[in-house]
Amino acid sequence: MAPPCFCPSCRFSVLSSGRSVSRLVQADPGFRVDIAIDAGAPVSEQIAFLNRLEEWTLIGLAAAIVLTLTARGIRLYLEHRAGMIRITYPEGRSVTVVPGTTILEASQFHDVPHAAVCGGRGRCSTCRVRINGPLDNLPPPDESETKVLRRVGAAPDVRLACQLSPVEDISVTPLLPPNASPRDGFAKSAAMQGQEQEIAILFADIRGFTTFSEQKLPYDVVFVLNRYFRSMGEAIEQAGGRVDKFIGDGIMALFGIDGNSRDGARAGLAAAVKMSERLDELNSLLKADLSQPLRIGIGVHAGPAIVGEMGYGPAISVTAIGDTVNTSSRLEAKTKDFGAQLIVSQHLADLAEIDTSAFRHEQIEVRGRREPMSIVVFDDAKTLQAQMGKAAAGKAVQPAD
Ligand code: FES
Repeated sequence: MAPPCFCPSCRFSVLSSGRSVSRLVQADPGFRVDIAIDAGAPVSEQIAFLNRLEEWTLIGLAAAIVLTLTARGIRLYLEHRAGMIRITYPEGRSVTVVPGTTILEASQFHDVPHAAVCGGRGRCSTCRVRINGPLDNLPPPDESETKVLRRVGAAPDVRLACQLSPVEDISVTPLLPPNASPRDGFAKSAAMQGQEQEIAILFADIRGFTTFSEQKLPYDVVFVLNRYFRSMGEAIEQAGGRVDKFIGDGIMALFGIDGNSRDGARAGLAAAVKMSERLDELNSLLKADLSQPLRIGIGVHAGPAIVGEMGYGPAISVTAIGDTVNTSSRLEAKTKDFGAQLIVSQHLADLAEIDTSAFRHEQIEVRGRREPMSIVVFDDAKTLQAQMGKAAAGKAVQPAD
């Protein structure tokens, strides 16, 4: 169809036609009806029907809205009566689940995108959510969830979605994108990004290992060393510590990164005791391979250190730097001078609330420190065991003679 023309001539022609029609309608009122019939305009019955149709449509729409709201109310009531729990996500999305369902399971059942790198085993922390609302009625996190949350420096209102089964309606905000990687899980931690905190640091070293390695084939050296590392690593982890690194035949471990300094100090001492026990087991196991039992020296000290992820590429790991690290290493070296298995700083013993009055106390000069340092010397770290038990029970007592 050709577009309308608005040239002056056409506009004049339309105006003059309109005036002609107007004159005809004034001269003959029936002319208007003729035009309406010719143009197919609705008659009065049809107009009345259209008006009624409009009213019915409006009534129908209003009824549909009322029915929807009523159905929604009934559903909420039935869910409430059936004990269903509603989980609300950002942007108003919500799902209902039966009690006992974890938030992560709810997300997965209802196709809500939710990160879960470890598959819901409570290890990766990528599923963590912020709880929007009161925390009072939430089941408390168990020990392993607490540990992971501490590790990522989570705020009190953050929980692992895979571990939390809400007991009432709850609103949550997933904190990591659905495609989060394992690294993302722990990368957001304030602690991991670097902060100074008081921790306990343990250094351990095998005595005379250079001589041992010179007398053995490389295969035997690697075999013995790996068995030793495994035993010591397990002892450290069982005590709640983190193996920082293996350096030659030496070990550096950190305690208290995820908790308070007292727990860190106690964990460091507990690790020393366990390491001594595991060393005895290892010596008995490797009797045929060793010309003489392995001996170790352990130094443990506590103090402020800068803790964070450090390194490059695949060699990035959480570690600590600072004077406390150097001092701990020097305490370990001092075990040679004292012929002892374990040396701990008095500061660490005080922090752990361990009574060391019956043990050997010394003052030593430590390179880099102006004041002499008070230390406690243990010929055998296992002699500390009784004190550890008493301290854990909440009281420090004199050790048995
Ligand atoms: S899915 Fe890994 S901690 Fe929850």
